[in-house]
Amino acid sequence: MRTGVCYFPEHWPRERWADDVERMAAAGIDYVRMAEFAWSRLEPEPGAYDFEWLADAVDLVGDSGMRAVLCTPTATPPKWLLDEYPSVRQERPDGTPLEFGSRRHYCFNSPAYRRESRRITERTAERFANSPHVAGWQTDNEFGCHDTVRCYCDDCASAFRAWLRDRYDTIDALNEAWGNVFWSQEYADFHEVDPPGPTPAYHHPSRLLDYSRFASDSVVDYNRLQVDLLREANDDWFVTHNFMGDFEQLDAFEVSADLDFAAWDSYPTLHGQRAPDTPDPADATAATVQRVGDPDVTGMNHALFRGASGGPFWVMENQAGDVRAYPYSAEPADGMMRLWAHQAAAHGADVVSYFRWRRCRFGQEQYWGALNNYDGSPDRGLPEAAEAAAEFARLPDLDAPVGNVAVLFDYDSMWALHAERHAPEFDYWAHLRTYYRALRRRGVTVDFVPADADLDGYAAAVAPALHLVPDDLAARLADYVTDGGELLLTVRSATKDEHDTLRDELAPGPLTDVVGARVEQHESLSPGLETRVEFDGDAYGYRTWAEWLVTDGATVVGHHRSDVAAGNPAVVRNAHGDGHATYVGVWPEADLADALTVDVLDRADVPICDRLPEDVRLSERDGHTWVTNFRTDAVSVDPGSNEIVLGEDTVPGRDLAVVAGPSHAITVERS
Ligand code: GAL
Repeated sequence: MRTGVCYFPEHWPRERWADDVERMAAAGIDYVRMAEFAWSRLEPEPGAYDFEWLADAVDLVGDSGMRAVLCTPTATPPKWLLDEYPSVRQERPDGTPLEFGSRRHYCFNSPAYRRESRRITERTAERFANSPHVAGWQTDNEFGCHDTVRCYCDDCASAFRAWLRDRYDTIDALNEAWGNVFWSQEYADFHEVDPPGPTPAYHHPSRLLDYSRFASDSVVDYNRLQVDLLREANDDWFVTHNFMGDFEQLDAFEVSADLDFAAWDSYPTLHGQRAPDTPDPADATAATVQRVGDPDVTGMNHALFRGASGGPFWVMENQAGDVRAYPYSAEPADGMMRLWAHQAAAHGADVVSYFRWRRCRFGQEQYWGALNNYDGSPDRGLPEAAEAAAEFARLPDLDAPVGNVAVLFDYDSMWALHAERHAPEFDYWAHLRTYYRALRRRGVTVDFVPADADLDGYAAAVAPALHLVPDDLAARLADYVTDGGELLLTVRSATKDEHDTLRDELAPGPLTDVVGARVEQHESLSPGLETRVEFDGDAYGYRTWAEWLVTDGATVVGHHRSDVAAGNPAVVRNAHGDGHATYVGVWPEADLADALTVDVLDRADVPICDRLPEDVRLSERDGHTWVTNFRTDAVSVDPGSNEIVLGEDTVPGRDLAVVAGPSHAITVERS
């Protein structure tokens, strides 16, 4: 486990570089990421390249014993390129082109932009192919940031039509699959199908879903173009991309299939404030989110990108100070650089790289904090980052964590659900996190896998709101249960087919046999309505969504106890082959989520710990378990028969300990 930092030599006079680089090395940093937005300096005029300033910076980094990570500069096409090829600009759904003056203003399907991207990638890669100091590359920067996966320009319209033709073959097949007889939406030819622009009423869900898939596939393609060129130049380099947290529009599993590993940009107080399942930042009880983020929002993204990597991942940008986020931008609590770095390492990050070395004096990000202030003096985070680097060096190199519980994360289902939320609060990330939080408060290592993953080896699988279930997926899930798996399905699962249309039979359609029950009614519920269920003899609350089930072989283990739903089955369990399927027809509050997951984990023989205090988490990686305490007060740790190799048996607030042993053997209590 190592640390890194993002550096922009082009933002500083050359005389400062040596001092910056020397102090990075002194802070224990191993990797320096550079050049992500530097196109206007790498090619100031069309065809006139200047790589020498970057080569000097790379040499400085290398001579100080660190390694450089370079980026293709394609997130910021320069002005001359836009003037030469105005068609490369993205368009919003109403046809408004995006202007020059910030970043990410290009379209992934523009033939001109693909040509230009190929050229700058090839030339830059060629220049550095023999440098001993370059370890690898980041493609572009944060694909999709600022709502830019989905473009609506003419190039996208043509590419969308080709994509549809490829998928459906005939226009009749498309009309049939989408159900275009509804509201006379039938097409006579593929060339009639446009990207979904503004309409008076809401859009056809099947068309929206295919546009979401197409747009994500367009990024996959565009990324592959760069990856192939970089690998051709030097196949010893690693190639990665820095994804964003809780980001909806891009399938990270698909993009990562072309990378050596995935990286992501972790801004805990920003993501915490934006997540729909954390307290409103204006609320006094939300102080923790503003100072330390939400450990499960950060942790779930770590798990997702470990899943996308199929092993260790990187945090390419870790928050290094305050963030220019809305609505508020508090300074992180003392100790957070170190605690966030350890939290990432515990989840399987091999490198935690901070954004950025030095706060910038100009441009859009003067308000983003850094390890150093803009005058070059160390900021609050620098000594903490150095401490984390020194501690990483003392810990052994560890393999990535391996979970015994899989959470199925399905972009198609998210895209379909978010196009028809049916309740403003119905958010896929928040729904998943209900179960993720419950599992994590029991110390369980959770792997995030795509819906088509092989589940062999997982004692239990949780499929929250797995909305679209094609027949082949249903068959695989059925086999998993038949072979002894414990499957937990939740609301809105298997409601629709792969085209986002209902089937002839009630939900859960092709899984009815496995679940032993059907969903007869569903309702979305505003906050304030009475929502009570009983599970295993105890009463609990729930939120947002309720289904009334009818059994056909399953055992009813939970009943509705409120309002018009009262008396109807709410949770069922069904023995199927050697395993069981549990179907939960409500969105449970935390105590019910705990009871439901413990019930499944017990049957699956997954070892768990006592329920952890709020904001304390155990994360196991290759036989070592991190106790991370995001609370303000201390907790005491009983490591069982294992040794504490970092920290003490009392872990102060915003601090940590590492135990050389498994998580389930550890007991944590508030001191
Ligand atoms: C990230 C982005 C960086 C920078 C940073 C600000 O989203 O990748 O380029 O903008 O935020 O902290």
